[in-house]
Amino acid sequence: MTKSATKEGTRRYAQRFAARAASGHFREAQRMLLSSLGLGTYLGQPDKMTDEAYTAAVVAAAESGINLFDSAINYRFQRSERSIGAALEQLAAKGFSREELVLATKGGYLTPDGSMPADANEYFFREYIQPGIFTAKDLAAGSHCMAPKFLKDQLGRSLKNLRVECLDVYYLHNPETQLSEIAKPEFLDRLRTAFEFLESAVAAGEIRYYGVATWNGFRRDPRAEDAMQLADIAQTAQEIAGGMHHFRFVQLPFNLGMPEALTLGNQILRERGRTLVELAGDLDITVIASASLLQGQLARNLPEVVAEAFGLENAAERALQFARSAPGITAALVGMSRVEHVKANARMVNVAPATVEDFGKLFARGESA
Ligand SMILES: NC(=O)c1ccc[n+]([C@@H]2O[C@H](COP(=O)([O-])OP(=O)(O)OC[C@H]3O[C@@H](n4cnc5c(N)ncnc54)[C@H](OP(=O)(O)O)[C@@H]3O)[C@@H](O)[C@H]2O)c1
Repeated sequence: MTKSATKEGTRRYAQRFAARAASGHFREAQRMLLSSLGLGTYLGQPDKMTDEAYTAAVVAAAESGINLFDSAINYRFQRSERSIGAALEQLAAKGFSREELVLATKGGYLTPDGSMPADANEYFFREYIQPGIFTAKDLAAGSHCMAPKFLKDQLGRSLKNLRVECLDVYYLHNPETQLSEIAKPEFLDRLRTAFEFLESAVAAGEIRYYGVATWNGFRRDPRAEDAMQLADIAQTAQEIAGGMHHFRFVQLPFNLGMPEALTLGNQILRERGRTLVELAGDLDITVIASASLLQGQLARNLPEVVAEAFGLENAAERALQFARSAPGITAALVGMSRVEHVKANARMVNVAPATVEDFGKLFARGESA
């Protein structure tokens, strides 16, 4: 058995914080316990200082009650995955086992290795096209690919960067990027071959679950060119692997400025519009919120009504409370390259999520959250 997060391991992790973690901070999803906040690694410069800062932040987060870590191979040119890999080594030395921590990453965007090469075209040609890992026709928008051979290559690199044998969640990164160039039937065909590969990676013990991490895809009017329908995507997984398929995670932006997952009935099932969280719940798909602070912007100047609904000490806490307390959201990712932000945000570990009633008050007051 390759090592990954497990039910017992994540339960043991939660036990470490039993004396202080508020009820509702750890949530069960796909036979794991996930903290309601996760650490994201998107922003920041591709330099050594930021590498070290992220490594320290990941260690501090794991020591503070946060066991979900999110990356993507292209974040900071693979350096964010490597920063997490370095942190995992430090955490192992401190007694945290792999089984306690939930690791997610993404593939789909072409990325250089560590820094921008002098001639990017020459680099991608030599590294990918020449060995036959993708062809020009597999690319969308000059930068996005979900061909199985490419995904296999990228997953291998991510496992190495993160220094693990198995990832808990592997997302296709912004697959809607493809919809700028191909029609929806072709898009679903490409998803199908990608999912066939991802199911084979589950069988090989390289990943436990897979999903789609999106930006616009699930927040659009259903008629938009880049709109995605979760029911069609889940159906594709179902056709490949039956009811036991491993397409179990969706990630999308969800924050006080982007509440569509909860408020927009853009997911159509049997001619009825439903919200993304509603439908995901019915399909046993776990929803993870990204950009919980709207890239830092929600850490200041929130409307007074949010403070009235949630209390708490400052805008960042209230914005995180919104994202992690929404019905149907399992965890809210927040980018944290600074230990001081980890320490500040980890105060929420000790605070119970808002109740459905308190949460509802925000909407009942007519606020467009
Ligand atoms: N399409 C996708 O798949 C997608 C898109 C976007 C995001 N994501 C995922 O979601 C994660 C979170 O989103 P994000 O990083 O884009 O944005 P975010 O979480 O909304 O904001 C991150 C920013 O907020 C700052 N911050 C954190 N805590 C703070 C606090 N208490 N007070 C003030 N500032 C604070 C961070 O600073 P420091 O870094 O200096 O600590 C960083 O600049 C990403 O890292 C990524 O893992 C996925």
